[in-house]
Amino acid sequence: MARKIIIDTDPGQDDAVAILLALASPELVVLGLTAVAGNVPLALTEKNARMICELAGRRDIPVFAGCDAPLARRLVTAEHVHGKTGLDGPVLPEPTMPLQDGHAVDFIIDTLRAEPSGTVTLCALGPLTNIATALQRAPDIAERVQQIVLMGGAYFEVGNITPTAEFNIYVDPEAADIVFKSGMDIVAVPLDVTHKALVTAQRTAAFRALGTPVGIAVAEMTDFFERFDKEKYGGEGAPLHDPCVTAYLIAPDLFTGRRINVEIETMSDLTLGMTVADWWGVTDRPENALFIGDLDADGFFKLLTERLGRL
Ligand code: RIB
Ligand code: CA
Repeated sequence: MARKIIIDTDPGQDDAVAILLALASPELVVLGLTAVAGNVPLALTEKNARMICELAGRRDIPVFAGCDAPLARRLVTAEHVHGKTGLDGPVLPEPTMPLQDGHAVDFIIDTLRAEPSGTVTLCALGPLTNIATALQRAPDIAERVQQIVLMGGAYFEVGNITPTAEFNIYVDPEAADIVFKSGMDIVAVPLDVTHKALVTAQRTAAFRALGTPVGIAVAEMTDFFERFDKEKYGGEGAPLHDPCVTAYLIAPDLFTGRRINVEIETMSDLTLGMTVADWWGVTDRPENALFIGDLDADGFFKLLTERLGRL
């Protein structure tokens, strides 16, 4: 039985690869994409989401625009990582598929209420503003969500936008706090694991060797996307964050983690957006999330490359 998902996203090259992986995988049925402001402003994230659907030949996927700013703070974007369009690297045609009229938050609420309870999974690849807004407007949906798998946070790997915070959580810490206290079945995919999913030159070459428009576009995305992180970390490649979320849903055995308590810093300027992960169980705070710590990187890239080859 294929798993129904809604992908909430702020494309972003790594979001694009995560979406393409989902669209290429029969284990998943993508009910819709909901765009949120994050890597770049909303006008670009919703446009990029439509461009990615068209790259995959999936003009049938409904794309909605959501929140254009965090719940309680000014938007912080990441053009320095993703380029001014948010999808720098490949030259993709302007989208021709329409943006849906409704608001993304209403789509999330309506879909969760319309589908049988416990049958829709949320994949959150950006700041959690849309998800938190939906929970605030419709608290009844929390128990209807099958699971939320979100790329966000960091513990052993520390922060990437500040010394202590990962970008998605940092942009909207109040939204993250609402999500982590919602009682939903949460799988957190933090930098601890995504920093082990490094796009090496060899792995990018495997994307390019697919020889398809998708394979070549993904190689051009990762070539662009990785220049910043390779410079910063001096590693052999850039971490491919968001595809770890959709890969987890397709092949969870590639990943390992631990059920722990995770809480969000929302008060301190110094550590704002930190995911305070009780990995060693030193508190009696409730275990509210499966916190992923490791993956089989070769297995992940083998799956990803094979699936992209299907588009
Ligand atoms: O910190 C990495 C996350 O921030 C990824 O989701 C990337 O796309 C950006 O949104
Ligand atoms: Ca993202």
